[in-house]
Amino acid sequence: MRPKITIVGAGNVGGTAAQRLAEKEVGDIVLVDVAEGIPQGKSLDLLEAGPICGYDTNITGTNTYDETEGSSICVITAGRARKPGMTRSDLLENNVNVVKSVVEELVKRSPETILLLVTNPLDAMAYVAYKVSGFPKERVIGMAGVLDTSRFATFVSMELGVSVENVQATLIGGHSDPLPLARYTTVAGVPITELLSKERIDALIKRTIHGGAEIVHLLKTGSAYFAPSAAITEMVTAILMDKKKILPSTVLCQGEYGLKDIFIGVPAKLGLKGVEGIIELHLTEEEGNLLRKSAQEVKAECSEVDRLIK
Ligand code: LAC
Repeated sequence: MRPKITIVGAGNVGGTAAQRLAEKEVGDIVLVDVAEGIPQGKSLDLLEAGPICGYDTNITGTNTYDETEGSSICVITAGRARKPGMTRSDLLENNVNVVKSVVEELVKRSPETILLLVTNPLDAMAYVAYKVSGFPKERVIGMAGVLDTSRFATFVSMELGVSVENVQATLIGGHSDPLPLARYTTVAGVPITELLSKERIDALIKRTIHGGAEIVHLLKTGSAYFAPSAAITEMVTAILMDKKKILPSTVLCQGEYGLKDIFIGVPAKLGLKGVEGIIELHLTEEEGNLLRKSAQEVKAECSEVDRLIK
């Protein structure tokens, strides 16, 4: 039997993730959404692309959760997305309730599943899923770092006029203020600190931090989905294929980086069990301070979550 991948939310992010995962044939897909007809229509459309693209992934669209039973992994994209002028935190109150009820439905039917959170504000939503599911920390993960890292790598490749395939980037911190680590970001093995001035690196970091807002500003009707769905696909594939791949992921830190009881982006090893390890990089004092500042902001959102889900 193939692994079952549930995707909750059949909007742009969920629908495009379903497409990418179907094309990779890493598992069969159940696409869930409250909007009648949307998950069914997108699933049928994706099935009908199979003969042309050469995949035979099963894709089921549904408005209820019964089909999700026994999922190996559940990707949660449901909730509101940003409109121009909104911060991710503006979504908190609405999306806490959405994620809470989605997680309750999922864990009832798939008590052994891994939860991959995508809904914003990302770090706080991972915390909601952890609290509501009662799952061990290994099985609750947030997608943000792969996306933010990919944005940074894109800007580095554009700046230097080299292939994105040559860029290996690393990043830590919350999704609202990610911290790309220039010292650990390389082009064909050479740290970018040897290739670019501090001013240029700082400008690329700034663009990365505001990468999501840059797309929201251009699209006007919603947020990014091509790169987010690519990031989801990379994480789901790493987990289901048991790759032991180190990817920047939002995970629960219990002492790592001096942080406790907080979901934040750090490099983590992903495999069939979910989070199979956290890699602790040596940080400079400045980097450590920025990470702690980011952690404080996530903590404040999580206190708000505690108040809302009581
Ligand atoms: C972004 C949203 C999805 O960064 O958080 O594009």
